[in-house]
Amino acid sequence: MGMIEKDSKFYPDKTFVETSQINSLEMYRTMYERSVNEPESFWKEVAEELVWFKKPHTILKYNFDNRNGRIFHEWFRGGYTNMSYNCLDRHMGTENENKRALVWQGEPDEDTREFTYRELLTEVCRFSNVLKKKGLKKGDRVTLYMPMVWQLPVAMLACARLGLPHSIVFGGFSSEALMHRIQESESKLLITVDESIRGGKTFDLKSNADQALLKCPSVEHVIVVKRTGHVSSWKEGRDVWLDEEINSPDIGDFCECEHMEAEDTLFILYTSGSTGKPKGQVHTTGGYMTYVYLTQKLVFDLRKESFYWCMADIGWITGHSYIVYGPLLNGTTTFMYEGTPLYPAPDRAWELIERYKITICYTAPTAIRALSRQGESWPAKRDLSSLKLLGTVGEPINPEAWMWYYENVGRRSCPIVDTWWQTETGGIMISPLPGAAPTKPGSAQFPFFGIVPRVCDPGVEDFEKQGEKMKPGETGHLCIEKPWPGLSRTIYGDHARWEQTYFYQYPGMYFTGDGCYMDAEGYHFLQGRVDDVINISGHRISTAEVESALVLHKDVAEAAAAAKPDEIKGQSIYVFVTLKLGVEPTEALKKELIDHVRKEIGAIASPDTLQFAISLPKTRSGKIMRRILRKIAENKTDDLGDVSTLEDADVIRDLIQNRS
Ligand code: WTA
Repeated sequence: MGMIEKDSKFYPDKTFVETSQINSLEMYRTMYERSVNEPESFWKEVAEELVWFKKPHTILKYNFDNRNGRIFHEWFRGGYTNMSYNCLDRHMGTENENKRALVWQGEPDEDTREFTYRELLTEVCRFSNVLKKKGLKKGDRVTLYMPMVWQLPVAMLACARLGLPHSIVFGGFSSEALMHRIQESESKLLITVDESIRGGKTFDLKSNADQALLKCPSVEHVIVVKRTGHVSSWKEGRDVWLDEEINSPDIGDFCECEHMEAEDTLFILYTSGSTGKPKGQVHTTGGYMTYVYLTQKLVFDLRKESFYWCMADIGWITGHSYIVYGPLLNGTTTFMYEGTPLYPAPDRAWELIERYKITICYTAPTAIRALSRQGESWPAKRDLSSLKLLGTVGEPINPEAWMWYYENVGRRSCPIVDTWWQTETGGIMISPLPGAAPTKPGSAQFPFFGIVPRVCDPGVEDFEKQGEKMKPGETGHLCIEKPWPGLSRTIYGDHARWEQTYFYQYPGMYFTGDGCYMDAEGYHFLQGRVDDVINISGHRISTAEVESALVLHKDVAEAAAAAKPDEIKGQSIYVFVTLKLGVEPTEALKKELIDHVRKEIGAIASPDTLQFAISLPKTRSGKIMRRILRKIAENKTDDLGDVSTLEDADVIRDLIQNRS
């Protein structure tokens, strides 16, 4: 049986539809209508599928309009629950108790671990007891700077169990980036590893951590997970090995969980915004849990026998929501892989799917493009018949990559869910429900339950008319009209910034920062960021972050970054640099500056192109004309638009002539 292709739409086959949870457009529409017209009773019912120690007294309270005062939304007030309890304890005594919860495959083939739900509960309890012994109390923040080792989800669940908000810093970030995030969150404890393993190489995370901690007085303890056993530095009295702590005779197999109020913080996750320093998105317990639970269940149409692999890194929101919390809330087996899908051979991903008989595979368009470049013969060699459903996330997927995935991985028999969402939104917002309606390549399709998207006209000047809808086929700014339980509550320590970033552009609505159009059938096509955020391989970096890193260098006078289209990564970073007087623009300096950004932020922010410029294009009032730099980076120099406000037209000539 395969999918059916008609009028450029892809219909799931009958057997898939018959067994799926939302199995018709009518069913989707009926439930959708109810979810947006009666959000309180809809979400109350969903929440009741999970365990609450005390039922909430109020389902929703909010204000999204800055003309009416402070912007906020609160869900399930008065309710008490615990994420770790719902991921683990809830399954005890059910058929999930002895089902596999987590299957971990290390990069070296012989390194594997499996945990049933029962075993994972014990492991998490023991870890919680270690944290407790360190004196941590509900509300204390913990930073996790770890690669994809199995101890990472264990640590997250242990934090959640005790009500310690975790702040995970992607293992690829530099010590500088780590330092800022620890300082911001004032974490008391850091969990890290000795070294990480990736692509056949090791990376010394511990020494990065030590470097960062030189300027982080809040951190009292460091727990080190043993991956390779090799550490280059150690601070007695502060650093301990997890293995030694957790195997200590006074560490018990059970740990009671904290009763968390629905709006107590579950975690903080830093993400790039259009300006300045990363924003610590605060996600709370009850709403995030309920939203992630339902999106995971329905978007991936989970079945009892699902064996689910999300290829993201847990350091990003995708990993938080859909490697750890979503699958475990649903009693699904989640697969976690330490390495990259291209190492040791370009069929590593396909080989793992074959070996483990994975049924659902969720990855980023970048990975698909990189894998497709290796040729069709790699997936063709493998038996991928266990796959039932495919997913993508993180960036717009071009129809070619979609088709490649559909044909070579899904073998024309798996629906693809193209899921659009953001760190801020907590969970998936626009996505097909695979059994409900046919998909179109490049479209994230329809809104999830409770989500009311609106494509707004960005050209409206009149304040009262802001938010006017675009016609089908016209690209505008994507906003969301009503609150939903997964949206972040604030930016850690800066509520005004949260309000300003998301609610001031289109009064009464959440502004996503993304461009989008809707076709005549209501299918949404996401068009990428409309602000100064660059999306590299599905990772967000703001131009401002790259620029601030560059101007820290002694030779740099001014810097501006722009996105350059990239065949594999989607976008790459193109920077324009003016040097201080008397400094020679050499190739060696170019390399030094690129390395400098890498050191300040991390390898993902490393510019692919650096151009020295005599000056940057500015308006008469001194603002950098980013629009022009973007065009140059995109190599669309014959279409620069209006340059009449430019201060010095020679600057443009120089920029075009010296384009790298
Ligand atoms: C982009 C990742 C098109 C978008 C979950 C968004 C997408 C940003 C898609 C958020 C998609 C994510 N189609 N674009 N399916 N998914 N994006 O916070 O620009 O790392 O604003 O969250 O990624 O990135 P973030």
